[in-house]
Amino acid sequence: MSGNSGSNQMWGGRFAAGPSAIMREINASIPFDKALWRQDIAASKAHVGMLAAQGIVTSEDAELIAGGLDRVAAEYEADGVPENWDLEDIHMTTESRLAELIGPVAGRLHTARSRNDQVATDFRLWVRDAIDQADAGLRQLQAALVERAGDHADSIMPGFTHLQTAQPVTLGHHLMAYYEMAARDRSRLADARKRMNRSPLGAAALAGTGFPIDRFRTAEALGFDGPTDNSLDSVSDRDFALDYLMAAAQCSLHLSRLAEEFIIWASQPFGFVTLPDSLSTGSSIMPQKKNPDAAELVRGHAGRIVGCLTSLMITMKGLPLAYSKDMQDDKPPVFEAAGLLALSIAAMTGMVAEAKFRTDRMRAAAELGYATATDLADWLVRQANIPFREAHHITGSAVKLAESRGVALDQLPLADLRAIDPRIDERVFAALSVEASVAARASHGGTAPAEVRKRVAEARAALGLED
Ligand code: ARG
Repeated sequence: MSGNSGSNQMWGGRFAAGPSAIMREINASIPFDKALWRQDIAASKAHVGMLAAQGIVTSEDAELIAGGLDRVAAEYEADGVPENWDLEDIHMTTESRLAELIGPVAGRLHTARSRNDQVATDFRLWVRDAIDQADAGLRQLQAALVERAGDHADSIMPGFTHLQTAQPVTLGHHLMAYYEMAARDRSRLADARKRMNRSPLGAAALAGTGFPIDRFRTAEALGFDGPTDNSLDSVSDRDFALDYLMAAAQCSLHLSRLAEEFIIWASQPFGFVTLPDSLSTGSSIMPQKKNPDAAELVRGHAGRIVGCLTSLMITMKGLPLAYSKDMQDDKPPVFEAAGLLALSIAAMTGMVAEAKFRTDRMRAAAELGYATATDLADWLVRQANIPFREAHHITGSAVKLAESRGVALDQLPLADLRAIDPRIDERVFAALSVEASVAARASHGGTAPAEVRKRVAEARAALGLED
């Protein structure tokens, strides 16, 4: 608390004058790192508990400090965290308030630690929570997907490549594709969590400390698997935040694709889905409009989340060991990405759960576009023992003929089909329906309703859903 008048009360001992207004403003992280207050209090309590256990501070002082930290937390909870730029960040804001509440004994809290290991610890705890929240959200999204997929294991829709009708699939199969993506997103988050779950607390400024601290104890108190093993790395590593952002960015790309499907499906020419009113908006000028804004924003948010990842990657590029103040800029992109991701997951969960699928329109679209042409070719291979390339060619002629008459493949008279190739017989019609087409694709992971139901059952079990 000493120092020259006007200089910083925490580190101003060697400074003659206080910082300029620009310095104060560029230096202050409190406007955003106040979001770390819970983690900062928890880490400080773990630290002071350890200091007492190791005899580095007395247990009376430790109790005073811990009680004071609880009071600071209660104040933050009730009134928010005050933003005083002179106190720079959440760490000094809390310590300064603690000193106001309990007096000079507050100064013992910072024994054997530095803001460098403090922020590394707080931020890890915050990212760990963000991972847990994203995981819980994705689990709900998966549950919604599985629910709807189970209801629509038999609902036929066109499957697309190049957004051109390719082969019939089932809506359940299509929805379950996003279940698989969400499963991998969760596994990426779990990897990131496991890798990051080591405590940097006690690395101090960069070199460790001469005090007889117990880093294993603080690690355990904060739910870490153990302490980190190199003090320089501990205070300068932000790859835990990047791991999270990479997983978040990948997840947001998946969500943007799902969002895009809903946008396309909700367009009038498709008409595959009616979006829930609760996740749509109207137009101020066109009364008939119902716009898929939530889905469009999820699509847009993916760009911002990738931007957050890029931002932190470039902040970290080329930084020498150990801590540099550039690293204070690690937090805004992570906070922003986490907020956007949570919203995106919630919006898509609602969309999946509440959208009204227009299965009649999907089914009619599947009948168009010669989606069963491959089934004709496959039939020629299997029933007439024709090499696939030749069968492909014969089928092409049939499609051309049907197209010229404006009819579906199975509406061509047998005589016309036989004129293209005499090896075709009446059994072919059984293969040309969209039902036969999807039912035939029973290879592992295929679109056959039986396969989809199998995968839905496995997914339900994996999610622990009731039957
Ligand atoms: N507000 C700082 C940050 O977020 C805390 C660490 C400050 N360390 C320092 N050596 N100035 O990075």
